[in-house]
Amino acid sequence: MPVDIVILAAGQGTRMKSELPKVLQPLAGRPMLEHVLERSADLGAEAVHVVYGYGGHQVPKALADWPVEWILQEEQLGTGHAVIQAMPGIADDSLVLVLYGDVPLIREATLTELLEKAGSGSLALLSVTLSDPTGYGRIIRDDRGQPQKIVEQQEANETELTVCEVNTGILACPAAQLRNWLTKLGHDNSQGEFYLTDVIAMAVADQYPVDVLIASGEIEVMGVNDKRQLAELESANRAEKTAGLMRDGVTLLDPARVDVRGKLSCGRDVVIDINAVFEGDVELGDGVNIGPNVIVRNSKLAAGCTVHANTVIEDAEIGESCELGPFARVRPGTVLGASAKLGNFVEVKKSYIGKGSKVNHLSYIGDTEIGERVNVGAGTITCNYDGANKFKTTIEDDVFIGSGVELIAPVTVEKGATIGAGSTISKNAPANELTVARSEQTIVKGWERPRKKAKE
Ligand code: UD1
Ligand code: CA
Repeated sequence: MPVDIVILAAGQGTRMKSELPKVLQPLAGRPMLEHVLERSADLGAEAVHVVYGYGGHQVPKALADWPVEWILQEEQLGTGHAVIQAMPGIADDSLVLVLYGDVPLIREATLTELLEKAGSGSLALLSVTLSDPTGYGRIIRDDRGQPQKIVEQQEANETELTVCEVNTGILACPAAQLRNWLTKLGHDNSQGEFYLTDVIAMAVADQYPVDVLIASGEIEVMGVNDKRQLAELESANRAEKTAGLMRDGVTLLDPARVDVRGKLSCGRDVVIDINAVFEGDVELGDGVNIGPNVIVRNSKLAAGCTVHANTVIEDAEIGESCELGPFARVRPGTVLGASAKLGNFVEVKKSYIGKGSKVNHLSYIGDTEIGERVNVGAGTITCNYDGANKFKTTIEDDVFIGSGVELIAPVTVEKGATIGAGSTISKNAPANELTVARSEQTIVKGWERPRKKAKE
C-alpha cells in the first residue's frame, strides 16, 4: 500500500523563547524537522506533506531542498485541523502516517511496525508509558484492555488522570477511513480545537479495529518543547551514536565528549580522542587516529592517517598514512596522496598534494597542484587571488621550496627545481635548477639606530 506521511510542524514553540520556529531549532547540527524528513525518506513514502504555520515561510525556505509538499495552516486550530489541511493531496487507497516535526528521534523500525498494523486494516496508535503523564493525552482502555478513546489532560476526569499510558501523537491509518472521521471532527472541548485524538472514539464506534503499539523507550517519542528537552535529546542522540561506534570496535577516550552529527563510518582499530566533532558523512579507514579537538566534516580519511589536535578538515579526501596538524586547516576540495604531511598552522584549499609531499609549517596552499616528494618550506604562500580572479599554481615532483617563498599564480615550478628561501616567484622556475628571486643584501656602514630622548 502506498504511504503518505503527514508531518505536523505548524506550532510556535513558545517555550523555546526564540525567533526561530521550533522545528528549525537544531539537533545534532541540523533542524529538528530535517531529522523527521530523513526518517520519512527512509520509509519510502509516496509523498511527504508538511503542515507549517508559525514563522511563515521560514520553514519551507530553510528546507527547500527536500522533495515535500508544503501546506500552510494559517491558523493553528488543532492537530485534527492540521491533518485535514493535508488530506486533499492524499488518495483513498493510501496509508496515512502522522508524525510530529518536534519528535525528531523516532525510529524507522517502530514506524514500520506501526505501518504494518495499519496496513492490515486498523487505526494504529503509538503510545508510551510515562512515570509522569501530566500534559499528555491518556489512552483509555476498557476492562479487556481494548483502547476506547484518548482523553486530553484538560478533559480528563480524576480516574483518567491516573492513567500513565499516553498518546505520542504518532498514528497510522488507511486514508479513506481517516478522511471520513476527520470530516466529522468537532471542536467542542476546553481548548476549542479540532483534536486528532477524537478519531479513536469514532473508530471504536464504527467497530473499526484500533491497535496500540507501545514504544519501547521514551527518547524516540520525546517531543521537544524547550531548550532543556532539546539538550536532553542532543545528549541521548550522542550517546546512541557513540554506543554504536564502540559496538563496532572504535576506541573512544571519552564517549561523553565525542559528537557525531551525521554519519560516521569507521574501519578497525580507529581511536578518537576527546572533543572530536564529526559532521555530515565522514569515513575513517583502519587504524585512523583522531586527536583532541578535531573537527571533520564530509571527508574521507584512508587507513593509517593520524590527525593531531585542533585540526579542521572539510570536504576533503585524505590518502593512506597521512599526518595532519596539530592546528592544520584543510578546506573544501583538498585531496592528499598517500603519506603526505600538513603540519601546524598550514591552510590548504582546493589543492592536490601528491604522495609523500610535506607542507610542514605556517603555509597557505590554494588552487595548487603539488606532485610527489615535494618539500614546501615554512611560511610559503601561494598568491592565488588578485582580488577578482583565482589562478593556479603547479609544483611538480621532487621540488624543494625554501622558507618564506611567495608563489604568484599562475606559475609553475618544474620537476626537481629548488627555490631559494625568501623568493617571490612570478615566472616559471625551470626543472632541476636553483631559482632565487630576492633582493641583494646591503650593508649601510656607520648607520645609527634612532634613540629615545632621555626623560627630564
Ligand atoms: C498532542 C496530543 C496529545 C499527545 C501529545 C503528545 C492532540 C489533541 N493531542 O497534544 O494526545 O499526548 O500531542 O505530544 O492531538 N500542530 C500543528 N497545528 C495545530 C496544532 C498542532 O501543526 O493546529 C503540531 C504542533 O506543532 C506539534 C504537534 O502538532 O508538533 C502537537 O501539537 P501540540 O499542541 O504540542 O499538542 P499537545 O497539546 O501537546
Ligand atoms: Ca506537545
